[in-house]
Amino acid sequence: MKVRVPVDPTIPVWATLFLVAVVSTLLSLADVLAFSQETRELPNFMQEKQLKIRDEVPDDAQAIFDLTAAAFEPKAYSDGTEAPIINQLRIDGDLTTSLVAVADGEVVGHVAFSPVTISGSSDGWYGLGPVSVRTDLQRTGIGSKIIRKGLSRLEANGAAGCALIGDPDYYGRFGFKSDGRLHYEELPDRLVQWLAFGDEDAEGVLEFCAAFQS
Ligand SMILES: CC(C)(COP(=O)(O)OP(=O)(O)OC[C@H]1O[C@@H](n2cnc3c(N)ncnc32)[C@H](O)[C@@H]1OP(=O)(O)O)[C@@H](O)C(=O)NCCC(=O)NCCS
Repeated sequence: MKVRVPVDPTIPVWATLFLVAVVSTLLSLADVLAFSQETRELPNFMQEKQLKIRDEVPDDAQAIFDLTAAAFEPKAYSDGTEAPIINQLRIDGDLTTSLVAVADGEVVGHVAFSPVTISGSSDGWYGLGPVSVRTDLQRTGIGSKIIRKGLSRLEANGAAGCALIGDPDYYGRFGFKSDGRLHYEELPDRLVQWLAFGDEDAEGVLEFCAAFQS
């Protein structure tokens, strides 16, 4: 990284040198921090295996089911329907985007997106979920990677936005917000989050497609 420090003739040479030294040290520190952020994202063995994110193929269906069932199984908020919902979305033709994270040929992460309506209108809004990461690999950045990739895909395809039910502490990092204008059944509004890709805000009652009702 090249650093250009403006040299003012009124500033003594020692002061300029001192400034250059300080700036260089700060930039090196920034590089070290950026590097450690990068390497902290995935454990070493995962980096070697090189995580690949791609669309699901028919052969992934069972692995997605098993992964989702196992990831949600220990969660108090799970009612055990998440894995069957993905199958039903696929059957209904509502699995708009289904991405898998693959490491060493194994599916280790998955995210589904399907159409939603807001107060009965379906103007290019999609729902995120279920999303799962293999239990022993959670909190290593895989979930963030597949979610970001899925959101980019939706945006590139011209979606108006994405909505979800989930923990704001997690989804806030992707730009989701809950401002009390989007509602879902009896749930607290803070769990009902949305992210607009354009200038159309989400306001009203959120509804997911049929697979979520069964
Ligand atoms: C939720 C899930 C998909 C996140 O994927 P992940 O790969 O584990 O998450 P990432 O590594 O990308 O992100 C890690 C961060 O998310 C936070 N996080 C993970 N799961 C979280 C949750 N359920 N609620 C709040 N924060 C969560 C971690 O604390 C960590 O925060 P930090 O970066 O501030 O330390 C994954 O943990 C999972 O499969 N959970 C079980 C199934 C589930 O609950 N799905 C979502 C339902 S809304």
